[in-house]
Amino acid sequence: MATRERVMIFDTTLRDGEQSPGCSMNAAEKVRVARQIDRMGVDIIEAGFPIASDGDFHAVQAVAQAARRPIIAALARCRREDIERAWQALAGAARPRIHTFLATSDIHLEHKLKMSRRECLEQARDAVSLAKSMCDDVQFSPEDASRTDRDFLCEVVQAVIEAGATTLNIPDTVGYSVPLEFADLIHEIRSRVRGVEGVVISAHCHNDLGLATANALAAVEAGARQVECTVNGIGERAGNTSIEEFVMAMRVRPDRYAFDTMVASEQLYPASQFLSEITGVAVQPNKAIVGRNAFAHEAGIHQDGILKNALTYEIMTPESVGVPGTSLVLGKHSGRHALAIRCSELGFDLERRELDRVYRDFVVLADKNKSVNDGQIVELIAAVRAIPSEIVPSQSHGDRIPLRHDSGGSPASRTAPPGQPEGVEMPRLFAADHDGEQQEDYLWGV
Ligand code: KIV
Ligand code: ZN
Repeated sequence: MATRERVMIFDTTLRDGEQSPGCSMNAAEKVRVARQIDRMGVDIIEAGFPIASDGDFHAVQAVAQAARRPIIAALARCRREDIERAWQALAGAARPRIHTFLATSDIHLEHKLKMSRRECLEQARDAVSLAKSMCDDVQFSPEDASRTDRDFLCEVVQAVIEAGATTLNIPDTVGYSVPLEFADLIHEIRSRVRGVEGVVISAHCHNDLGLATANALAAVEAGARQVECTVNGIGERAGNTSIEEFVMAMRVRPDRYAFDTMVASEQLYPASQFLSEITGVAVQPNKAIVGRNAFAHEAGIHQDGILKNALTYEIMTPESVGVPGTSLVLGKHSGRHALAIRCSELGFDLERRELDRVYRDFVVLADKNKSVNDGQIVELIAAVRAIPSEIVPSQSHGDRIPLRHDSGGSPASRTAPPGQPEGVEMPRLFAADHDGEQQEDYLWGV
């Protein structure tokens, strides 16, 4: 496969992510999360906002000591004391970056900062000059860029580039933008601002309309080469672009995105679980890529398809993102195919008629309960066979059947189907020994 252009990942889980309610972390916790984020292979870790508290100052210092490979960024408002504090916190970093920001939209200037556009431009330029006198690597963000007057935005951006900024981060601070518009904003900056070709353009998108990942992808298509992300998409209010969504969109659709990141995708799920454990904030079950339902199937038609060929309902393998495997949930929508497999795993190879009877009782039970566990399945079998019901299954999986994909993973079994790009790790095929060729007739009476 041809080499694809690289998009850098700026992970802000420890800064913007930490600003989300319930997600704040102390220095020791930040170091543990930073190690996992480093393991993923991100390019930059934003470790905190040193002026905000002594705790955050020490956290940035500790992360800078612990993670030597990636660039470590510290946030600072466009104020001398913030920039000096950020630089002190970064003193021990192998590769430091000062990230300074100032709001540029009229609504922020008038109501929050009570500052004129002229004052804003001067403060941004002076702050970047000061940061540059300390650190070669300076990132500037015009906060609320997507709601800023475009002429003024271009003026500010040009001034900070002249003052020495090396990365220009364009935030959709309130998650207001939509993909075509955000792409257009990046295009306009690239075509109007002198010197912009010498800096990296970055996108920082919030998820208030659920568009953070879509906007980040649109920005990359328009020329951004850094994207700011967080693990599990945590961040202010509805959060930021989620690293797992952004990375996997590029991996699964190289036909649409001629770019890639350095992220080791099999570390995505471990990072998600680890962060959730540290913060105590659960991942929503239907969260793309890392939610507990992302590779779980309950509907009989889907389970049947998955058992015949995982490509029917999965666009990536669970293993490719570090998820242990596909699971089939036994509930009222499940079919006989999945039930038969579970019975067999519990030691009962049922005859067709037996399976029909067990399945009939299973549907009645599943209709009452949300799901049916191993013990209940054994009881159903016992009732049908009139055998003692106190047989205890050797290994209980609760209401989920973890599916083991064929371990051989032969090249043929990974060939992309028509319409899917070659070279992407696709779900493996299942069970050549599957005996039914027809679609699951799991709905009785249908
Ligand atoms: O959302 C935002 O504008 C920010 C900046 C500090 C980059 O988080
Ligand atoms: Zn933000």
